[in-house]
Amino acid sequence: MSVPEDPDALILSAFLESGEKYVSGEFLAARLGVSRVSIWNRMKKLEEDGFRFHAVRNRGYQLQQEPEGLYPALLRAHGHHQRLPWPLHAFASIDSTSSEVERRLIEGEPAPFAVIASAQTLGRGRLGRTWTSPNCGNLYLSLALRPEMPPARMQTFTLWFGVKVARALAALTGLPMAIKWPNDLICRGRKIAGMLTEARVDNDRLKDLVFGLGLNLNAQSHHFPEPLRDKASSLALEAGRTFPLHRLAIQILKVLDDAWQSMEEGDVTPELLRQWPALDCLEGKTVQLAEGNRLLAGVARGIDAQGSLLLETEEGTLQRIRSGDVSLQGAYAPTENEVPTK
Ligand code: BTN
Repeated sequence: MSVPEDPDALILSAFLESGEKYVSGEFLAARLGVSRVSIWNRMKKLEEDGFRFHAVRNRGYQLQQEPEGLYPALLRAHGHHQRLPWPLHAFASIDSTSSEVERRLIEGEPAPFAVIASAQTLGRGRLGRTWTSPNCGNLYLSLALRPEMPPARMQTFTLWFGVKVARALAALTGLPMAIKWPNDLICRGRKIAGMLTEARVDNDRLKDLVFGLGLNLNAQSHHFPEPLRDKASSLALEAGRTFPLHRLAIQILKVLDDAWQSMEEGDVTPELLRQWPALDCLEGKTVQLAEGNRLLAGVARGIDAQGSLLLETEEGTLQRIRSGDVSLQGAYAPTENEVPTK
């Protein structure tokens, strides 16, 4: 019998299916259609790559530890196990997952698809900033989408995805989550994730859309550049434990798939406006806003149906802010308005 296309993913999916139970070499050999010796050699290679197995005579192997960084075959195994919504391209390191998505779109790869990496050498953030992306168990993920919607709806797109991811992370980790308009996910006053939506527009229609998510999952403080240490954090730092990167990556992909499907099915604006206040960490706070060369100050009053930030100025007028960089006094001043875990 021939060796399947991705034997490592097949081996690893057997461990995911078995849970805590031991998986015998015989079973694996039968599943792959190869000899026991060949399975043994593959297991040795997996151990060299950072997996740890406990072997017991006559019972088989138990998976005890996964590698810290992203292991594409394990990701495929999780995807196989849980039915991945989209084709997924995984890399140990790449310049930027969003750049890779763009290249693939230009080459004609049909959307939707996702690109994920363990590390980025040229990770980019909003407003031309750098997104520091070391290999430390964080999640760097980009999605290619071909939406049938006018470009004006892009704003609500990012907010809707943010709401979905924030709520999912709260449920998965038990941590309080909030959103700082328009694209920062905040936990206990510190940024733990950023979203970046970029679009290619053709004749006033969105040609395609690249949604990027950088989630500080397992970073420790030394992974953050010095000036960010009091403003940024990770889920691991906040929870006091690390999180399984592969499983979480697949869970987040499913959440994004869900968010996308609901947008394709109809207008999510009423639901966005309903869910936003519980997550909004700016509501009622005095904020400064840099919009191009303009500097504005006022009290944040939620969002409107277009996803614009509502800012009550000192003169008492309500300004609708379409884009810009909002800052609070100090860091991301702690908020009482972080969503409970359910
Ligand atoms: C921000 O807060 O400024 C947005 C940060 C977005 C970072 C993510 S990481 C995955 C994807 N690839 C990139 O180069 N950027 C986005």
